[in-house]
Amino acid sequence: MNVSDLSTASFPSSTPRHIAVIMDGNGRWAKRQGMPRIAGHRKGVETVRKILPLCGKRGIPYLTLFAFSSENWARPSSEVRLLMDLLTSTLENEILGLHENGVRLRVIGDLTRFSGRLRNAIGEAEALTRNNRALNLTLAINYGGRWDLLQACRSIAELVEQGSISAAALTPAVLESRLSTHELPEPDLFIRTGGEKRISNFLLWQLAYTELYFSDTYWPDFNESCFDAVLEEFARRQRRFGKTSAQLKSIA
Ligand code: FPP
Repeated sequence: MNVSDLSTASFPSSTPRHIAVIMDGNGRWAKRQGMPRIAGHRKGVETVRKILPLCGKRGIPYLTLFAFSSENWARPSSEVRLLMDLLTSTLENEILGLHENGVRLRVIGDLTRFSGRLRNAIGEAEALTRNNRALNLTLAINYGGRWDLLQACRSIAELVEQGSISAAALTPAVLESRLSTHELPEPDLFIRTGGEKRISNFLLWQLAYTELYFSDTYWPDFNESCFDAVLEEFARRQRRFGKTSAQLKSIA
C-alpha cells in the first residue's frame, strides 16, 4: 500500500474519504460451506487483508470496521471466545505488516470487558502506528452507537458539574469532540454486506448524512470488483446535505 498522506489531501467528492463497514455474513458463508462459524470469521479477516490495500490504491484514507458489537456478547460463549482469540491473534500477528504499510490503527469501543492480553495488543498497536498516515484503520470492538453517545453525554455532564461548560453552550461540535470517533471525519459511505438492511447500533450520530450501501454478498466473498461496484455507485450519487439540487448547481 503505497500512498502519501491522504488524510489531509483535498478530496474529490466522487471518492469517499471515510468508509464504515458492517462485515456481515461470515456465519452464513461458513454454514454454506459446511464449516463452523469461526471459519467464516477467519475468512473474513482475509477479506480485510484484501480490502486494506484497495483503500490505498483508490485514495481512501479512512476505513472503519465493525468487528464486534456491544450486542455480540449474547452469542454462544464458544463463538465469543473464538472471536476474541481471533481478534487478539490477528492484532498481534498483523500489526508489524500494517505498520510497514503506513497504517494507523485505532480501536473504538468499551475495552473494559476485554482480557489484559487483548488490551495490551490494542495499546501497543495504537502506540506503534500513531504517526502513520497512509490509511487510518479503525476497529470498532465492543462498540455500540448508543454506548458512544452515552459515554459522550456522561463526559459532558461531568464538565457541566465542574462548571467548565454551561448547558446552553452545548453544540453539536462539543458533543462530537466527546465521541470515540472525534479524530475521524464523518463517514461518507457505509457498506453492510450479507443482505440485511440495518444500521445495527453502529455509528448512530456519525451516519446522519452518510450514503448507505447494502450488498447481498457475504463478507468472506466481498472482493475487489464488489468494492469497486460500491465506489462507482457512490460516485453516481448526489449528496445534498439537506439542500436542493438547484442550490448545489448554483454553488458548483
Ligand atoms: C458478522 O457476521 C461478523 C462479526 C460479528 C465479526 C466480524 C469480525 C471479523 C471479520 C474479524 C475482523 C478482525 C479484525 C482484527 C479485522 P455474522 O457472524 O453475524 O454472520 P451471519 O449473519 O451470517 O451469522
